[in-house]
Amino acid sequence: MIDISLNDFLKLPEADKLPYIKEYALLYAQQFSRADLDDYCILADKSRSLFKSPDGARLLGNLLSNRIALNFFVQPSSRTFLSFSAAQAILGMKRMSLRDLNISSVSKGESLQDSIRTFISYVDLVVMRHFDNDAAVIAFWVAAKASRRVTIGGTEKPIPIISGGSGNLHHPTQALLDIYTLGKSFENSGGIDGKKIMLVGDLKRGRTVRSLSYLMKNYKNVELIFAAPDEFQMKDDILKFLDSHAIPYTKIDSISEAIGTADAIYMTRIQDEWDNVKTGVHPRTHDNVIFKTEYLKLMKPTACLMHPLPKRDEIEIDVDYANDSRVVYWRQERNGMWMRVAIIAKIFQCDQIILSS
Ligand code: NCD
Repeated sequence: MIDISLNDFLKLPEADKLPYIKEYALLYAQQFSRADLDDYCILADKSRSLFKSPDGARLLGNLLSNRIALNFFVQPSSRTFLSFSAAQAILGMKRMSLRDLNISSVSKGESLQDSIRTFISYVDLVVMRHFDNDAAVIAFWVAAKASRRVTIGGTEKPIPIISGGSGNLHHPTQALLDIYTLGKSFENSGGIDGKKIMLVGDLKRGRTVRSLSYLMKNYKNVELIFAAPDEFQMKDDILKFLDSHAIPYTKIDSISEAIGTADAIYMTRIQDEWDNVKTGVHPRTHDNVIFKTEYLKLMKPTACLMHPLPKRDEIEIDVDYANDSRVVYWRQERNGMWMRVAIIAKIFQCDQIILSS
């Protein structure tokens, strides 16, 4: 199935890994085409409306009742872990979780490869969040190489691996739910094409903004605005990717510079877990990348304010309770669960049953 050694596979540039992983794993936002994104959003919407009726909920709940999922999350997580778990429950999957390496055999010296090989002996899907940038790629390789197979759509396939956050580089399923949220916010203003999207905060180490930037290749005439102090600005690899897809971007250091023209404002937290020195004190982010309540008055009437969450002090607390429909981050959180239903349904090829119900 995969005739390349793990070391050689790890050395491949991401673009060259894509043909191997397509349809067997969800590791990178770059995997997705515009048609894929549109399909996922339709599937999420359809699942959401089906679940409203007992019959629809029963139909969804029977789709994957013979499958077992493992949520292997060894970095902190609330939303991604819970929404994956809820999505699996909606689809009727049995679920297990492993969240602490100290109580797994890794503490006895087991390698990640051996751990993954063990997991896939018991389950039909692994969703994973790991501090190591390569962990999900390694898991994919092990699943592709190992003999255990799961039958999907009549064909034997490797156990699917979904990244729920890889180091500080990738968070593809967050990017999918962000697209779903952007699409909903722009439902009456022409969709995502042609929009100006401002990404704010720790763009250097924030994996959500990196994955979302990759997805922009699928939209026409979008423009990105990176609002961050120099030390947290977007890294060159993403800028190169945007250049190669002719996606224009500007770097600014203050939200206020683009607040009146941005169609979406995507806030992020300073990712200080990657700081070398652990002070235990969260540095307040720079004042000019804090979303102040007064900015609501300056935002376009059709704009939206997003955040992958968790947030700290980068959004003033009154914004949460401003009762402003442009503040969408709590809805974004819920959208995540439906997008993850769509992701799992698509991997197990039960999307057509959902769409035709
Ligand atoms: C993000 C993450 O883990 O990268 N959270 C999430 O999945 N919604 C963002 C963050 O931790 O700041």
